Amino acid sequence: MGFVIAVDGPAASGKGTIATRLAALYGYPVLDSGLLYRAVGVRLLAEGGDLSDMDHATRVAKTLDPATLENPEVRTRAAGEAASRVAAYTPVREALRAFQRTFATQEPGVVIDGRDIGTVIAPQADAKLFVTASPEVRATRRWKQLTGQGEQVTYEDILADIRIRDERDSARSDSPMVIADDAVLLDTTEMDIDRAFDAARRIVETARGQKA
Ligand code: C5P
Repeated sequence: MGFVIAVDGPAASGKGTIATRLAALYGYPVLDSGLLYRAVGVRLLAEGGDLSDMDHATRVAKTLDPATLENPEVRTRAAGEAASRVAAYTPVREALRAFQRTFATQEPGVVIDGRDIGTVIAPQADAKLFVTASPEVRATRRWKQLTGQGEQVTYEDILADIRIRDERDSARSDSPMVIADDAVLLDTTEMDIDRAFDAARRIVETARGQKA
């Protein structure tokens, strides 16, 4: 097992950008685990399925083609909403677990971002960050990102989405979004992405020093 960096946190906290930049810095592969749940939700809907149909969602998760994670459709607002619905199903989470755990075994290390990486997928991770920010700041960031992709959405709608998603992800019984006991909390509310990355890098450097 290489050096595993787990970056958890809620939607639009900055965790994805931080994970990507850490991966570039250390030359590690990065997995955005949210894309797995998004891809399941998108395919379920494309097959005419219903988000309340756990069995259908599970069949999709068991046969997920990792190539579909590249599909731009998985980055839409609707995909995020669908993802958090299917992510509440235990058999869906189980079906996606092996892929994530296998990814985590790569040498010399990996970065994985999500909600339950430091708690469930890789509890043995060498560095654990929990990246967060106020709902309002996260809504502003996500609104800019989605309108930049050409989606017609209001800030208020995005803020409402974020609140619903935080609640659903934190309240579910299987692998809820919680801060691992040994994770370092990074609140990026008052930080731009460069400062947030710098703070994250220092947290990881400390963990690397402890492992060396
Ligand atoms: O990170 P992202 O916003 O793309 O995640 C979409 C949804 O996927 C989250 O709201 C959450 O419900 C689910 N998810 C999860 N566990 C992860 C990553 C994402 O349950 N490790």
